[in-house]
Amino acid sequence: MEIKPIDPANRAFFAGVVSGIDLTRPLSAQEVEAVHAGMDRFGVLVFHDQKIDDEQQLVFSKSLGPLEQATGDIAAPQDRRMSMELNDISNLDKNNQVLARDDRRRLFGLGNMLWHSDSSFKDVPAKYSLLSARQIPDADGNTEFADMRAAYDALDDKTKAEVGDMICSHSQIFSRGILGFTDFTDDERVKWAPVRQRLVRKHPRSGRLSLYLSSHAGGIEGWPVPEARAFLRDLNEHATQRKFVYAHQWKPADLVMWDNRVTMHRARRYDHTQVRDMRRTTLTNEVSSLEQAP
Ligand code: OGA
Ligand code: MN
Repeated sequence: MEIKPIDPANRAFFAGVVSGIDLTRPLSAQEVEAVHAGMDRFGVLVFHDQKIDDEQQLVFSKSLGPLEQATGDIAAPQDRRMSMELNDISNLDKNNQVLARDDRRRLFGLGNMLWHSDSSFKDVPAKYSLLSARQIPDADGNTEFADMRAAYDALDDKTKAEVGDMICSHSQIFSRGILGFTDFTDDERVKWAPVRQRLVRKHPRSGRLSLYLSSHAGGIEGWPVPEARAFLRDLNEHATQRKFVYAHQWKPADLVMWDNRVTMHRARRYDHTQVRDMRRTTLTNEVSSLEQAP
């Protein structure tokens, strides 16, 4: 197994490409450690030509750590295409038909087009996400990743001091609201009530600090809401400059894995009449970001 930077000239320490590994087979303890070490270094790892099914994706994912359940999904249990151990990142219904343009599930899913960190709206958020491309459109539909360690490092000292102990409140109600999606049920509003997360967190293995930003963040504790949102918007603008971004152009059977503690990501547009079938497994962070102070 070998891991190299995808774009050594522009981002030697962000986004690696892994070769010499077959994800359809169980990994050795040594391979598991090499994957973690690669994640510590690069934040995003790309695996090409991995024709895996749901079961193989689950075995690989679980070899890296405990999974979270897909409780952030809006589809009713009887409408799901897969178990609660997988997130359905597709534009399909359970009969594998492309969702209508105005389908509520599709409109909710468009929230993925905003820069975010997975499950930052949960008390215990996500650690790694693993996204497997099963069927992709002819063109477009990239996924972009931004390096929140580099973004933190590039802040001036005054801003670093100001954000060091900030606590933000995160909710899917905030992020969807940005796109004008507001038709949440009372149950959903209770289930997705805001949670608290640190704005600056420390990676337990690499020791690096990162900005824990996400479109789900809609407030800063102790701040008036408009001031908080204006400030978070400025931080997001800083953190997603192109120099911090790797844009992944999907090939069939790609699997991309990212560390939600140190990255944000977003989906890009594609022809919504074409099938895009991606499945995500997600490792839980096991503790809140509040436990990962610098
Ligand atoms: C996700 C996600 C982006 C995409 O799977 O968590 O945000 O391009 N996906 O589908
Ligand atoms: Mn996501």
